[in-house]
Amino acid sequence: MARLEGERPLTGRTALVTAGPTHEPVDPVRYIANRSSGTQGYAIAAALAAAGADVTLVSGPTTLPDPPGVRTVRVETAREMLAACMACLPCDIAVCTAAVADWHVVPAAQKIKKTTPDAVPTLQLLPNPDILATLSQPSPTRPRLVVGFAAETEQVADHARAKRLRKGCDWIVANDVSPATGIMGGTENEVMLIDATGCEHWPRLDKAEVAHRLVARIATFLHTPPN
Ligand code: CTP
Ligand code: CA
Repeated sequence: MARLEGERPLTGRTALVTAGPTHEPVDPVRYIANRSSGTQGYAIAAALAAAGADVTLVSGPTTLPDPPGVRTVRVETAREMLAACMACLPCDIAVCTAAVADWHVVPAAQKIKKTTPDAVPTLQLLPNPDILATLSQPSPTRPRLVVGFAAETEQVADHARAKRLRKGCDWIVANDVSPATGIMGGTENEVMLIDATGCEHWPRLDKAEVAHRLVARIATFLHTPPN
């Protein structure tokens, strides 16, 4: 695979990357979240910038520093993430790596207290907007290439193929995040790249290398005229 060193094939292109988890507040001190570290998305944002793209990274809460050369917009909830993404349109490329919480609750204004030792509050979950599906919808501002991620724990390829069609995105990068793989929160990733024509299995690689390979593929795609 040709590396992008010495070339900047995405010069003049604009890119949006979502990364990290979202935090959905339950009350002023509690939230619903997930185990995403943001590492893969930050690496993709950095690789897109290294390839010359003008990159906006819309990130949920992470402990990672802002990638150099990237405009980083920090958000907390899925609804804030959607608004920040829509503010980035039009753009050429969207890569949605964020582990967006699927649900939120209407947060309590004050800390929910234990009333009696056995009483448990009931949380009414409400659906969050689907950022990837929204960006994928046909519209004059739809990015030319929309890439989603699919973190699965079983039947990875089948779930990911179905997800690509359901979301309307062009490519899905799928990975197996079942605990035995040690992928979630680690420094390596083992992915499949799924497009309309098929499914390509990549070896286990450092997340930065996955990012470089994906960006090389994006550059090739954008340099190929649509038929
Ligand atoms: N995604 C998104 N907004 C959401 C949920 C997901 O943008 N509200 C994006 C993720 O960033 C990822 C892709 O959709 O690129 C797949 O996310 P995933 O959680 O695997 O898909 P879901 O449709 O939420 O399905 P499920 O959680 O049931 O597997
Ligand atoms: Ca989900």
